[in-house]
Amino acid sequence: MSAYQHEYQLAEKEPEHFWKTQAKKLDWFEEPKTILAKDENGIERWFPDGVLNTCWLALDYHCEHGRGEKTALIYDSPVTQVKRQYTYNELRDKVAKLAGMLAQEGVRKGDRVVIYMPMIPEAAMAMLACARIGAIHSVVFGGFAPNELAVRIEDAEPKVVMTASCGIEVNKVLPYKPLIDKAIMDSRWKPEKVFLYQRPECEAALNQTRDIDWRTACEVAKPHPCVPVMATDPLYILYTSGTTGKPKGVVRDNGGHAVAMKYSMQAVYNMPQDGVFWAASDVGWVVGHSYIVYAPLIHGCTSVLFEGKPVRTPDPGSFWRVCEEYHVDVLFSAPTAFRAIKKEDPNGLELQKYDLTSLTSIFMAGERLDPPTLTWVTEHAKKPVIDHWWQTETGWAIASNPVGIEPMTVKAGSATMPCPGFKVEILNEIGEPVGANQQGFVSLKRPLPPSCLPTVWRNHDRFESGYLSQFEGYYVSGDGGYLDEDGYLFIMGRVDDVINVAGHRLSTGEMEEIVGGHPAIAECAVVGVHDDLKGQLPLGLVVLKDGVKIDSLDLENELVGKVRDEIGAVACFKHAMVVERLPKTRSGKILRRVIRQIADGETYTVPSTIDDPTSLSEIEKALGSN
Ligand code: COA
Ligand code: AMP
Repeated sequence: MSAYQHEYQLAEKEPEHFWKTQAKKLDWFEEPKTILAKDENGIERWFPDGVLNTCWLALDYHCEHGRGEKTALIYDSPVTQVKRQYTYNELRDKVAKLAGMLAQEGVRKGDRVVIYMPMIPEAAMAMLACARIGAIHSVVFGGFAPNELAVRIEDAEPKVVMTASCGIEVNKVLPYKPLIDKAIMDSRWKPEKVFLYQRPECEAALNQTRDIDWRTACEVAKPHPCVPVMATDPLYILYTSGTTGKPKGVVRDNGGHAVAMKYSMQAVYNMPQDGVFWAASDVGWVVGHSYIVYAPLIHGCTSVLFEGKPVRTPDPGSFWRVCEEYHVDVLFSAPTAFRAIKKEDPNGLELQKYDLTSLTSIFMAGERLDPPTLTWVTEHAKKPVIDHWWQTETGWAIASNPVGIEPMTVKAGSATMPCPGFKVEILNEIGEPVGANQQGFVSLKRPLPPSCLPTVWRNHDRFESGYLSQFEGYYVSGDGGYLDEDGYLFIMGRVDDVINVAGHRLSTGEMEEIVGGHPAIAECAVVGVHDDLKGQLPLGLVVLKDGVKIDSLDLENELVGKVRDEIGAVACFKHAMVVERLPKTRSGKILRRVIRQIADGETYTVPSTIDDPTSLSEIEKALGSN
């Protein structure tokens, strides 16, 4: 039996023993006696009587064990030309003061704190400061528009918001204060205070009754110790796109998360404790939560926080420059980032300028790693390139090439094997397992391993209906795919209304709600069509109300502006076309999948339930002439 099989079977057959062993690697305040039990909703929970503090594990524990002078965090910002490093001691001290600042304003264990920040060290510090006092953070990606922020503020009901005066994108400064003000104005929930970190690139005027200058308040704050929390207490809420306009608040607990983070650093990434880990992502996404902030620090590594892009900051060599400069051991990003690099540096000339000796492997996630990108990166970087599949809901890889246990042969297009603890099955429409190489719903047999969501924030019904009720005893991932004859997992894309644009998860259902809200529009469909760089891009097809006369270009501009205003530029909604009607089933369901296939030039089967087959030729004609 291979090492991987051995470990996988241990986790499958004796999950409590397996995860108890992993939990023992952490410094609990009170070690859990119960390893797995059901909660009041009948959901399996890990380590329910364990007591710990995630900030303690990430910072203080290392300071107490002789690693205080080791570099914890490297900040590299090509967009501001700033580079800074923090030791574990320095980071602990800063976070303790920040925690004191929050406590001073009455933030307590269980209170929510919304964090809307650019990629600066203070974003990570804010998260850790919340963890330190047992407050629940909810980070909102800086590329989201005020409406998205307002929706999250309304749902999470934060006591305070933490933000900065601006974000910086390639060659542009984006003031945050007007966005925050608008979001709070539009939200029915009003946070008591807003802590604002002033950046020199664009200082903001403060509202004297509500806003607090972060730096001044932090300077006078008293360091706050780590507050013990139960393993099942939430560490954070992270909103993610679902099929409707309302994002889902994925809840992450403290104990299971910490155990899975620690385990994954070894089993998935094969990271040495003294190594440098770089997740080139954003703290607003789950990758940033898990692998910029929590896992590398819990493991005692150095983590890189990069405020830049793979290209244009200043060139397609920036990823390789960072790897050389900080001796990065493991690099993790989305395939789209490497496609952007490949586009600008097809022959890898930039890459050849840098010494990548320290780099052991490159991990990718966020979308399927397409074989041409896999080949290009492997050939040019001459490093193992590893596709691994995961979701906001799990917090760590469901499937990966388990290089920390036993490296496996790479199969292009596959995320390799399920990670220990995840029982992946492919089910058909009625919940029966299908055979090898047959596509179906990629499902996970319960109980899920530590770190996976136990509920949707204040909406347990949505957790049940969105994930658990389709197939009894299973969590349904929302992805379609298959297992091949060797047990390799191939994820083929979402089976719901979620699309992945440049590694960002977005809801076409939400875009449809916005587009459909335009007074000229009777109905619409938004689908994700293939894009060579960003993987997918949204495309809107709209049907006008009878009698409406509007120039189609004007309409497109209005719709593009509307989606940009309500979701944000990151949605990349740039095209909307007027069509006579949308193809539908006899029961009135829009055939979005077929529309997407037509747009992508794929062959498709005309569904037997179609109402009027001629509607498809109209779509073909419209898309063909686009
Ligand atoms: N704050 C504000 N605006 C943001 C933003 C942020 N944090 N992130 C993106 N945007 C804006 C961009 O400025 C751009 O605006 P524009 O339409 O006015 O130009 C728009 O959103 C689209 O951004 P993006 O999709 O990132 O396109 P891009 O052309 O700037 O960059 C890539 C393309 C591929 C280089 C970039 O998307 C990338 O690096 N992706 C990696 C994604 C990733 O890390 N995913 C996390 C999972 S691992
Ligand atoms: P997010 O929750 O933002 O991390 O997005 C999760 C979704 O991204 C998954 O459900 C998949 O659709 C997609 N995804 C992430 N990683 C991969 C991967 N390695 N291969 C294919 N799809 C992926």
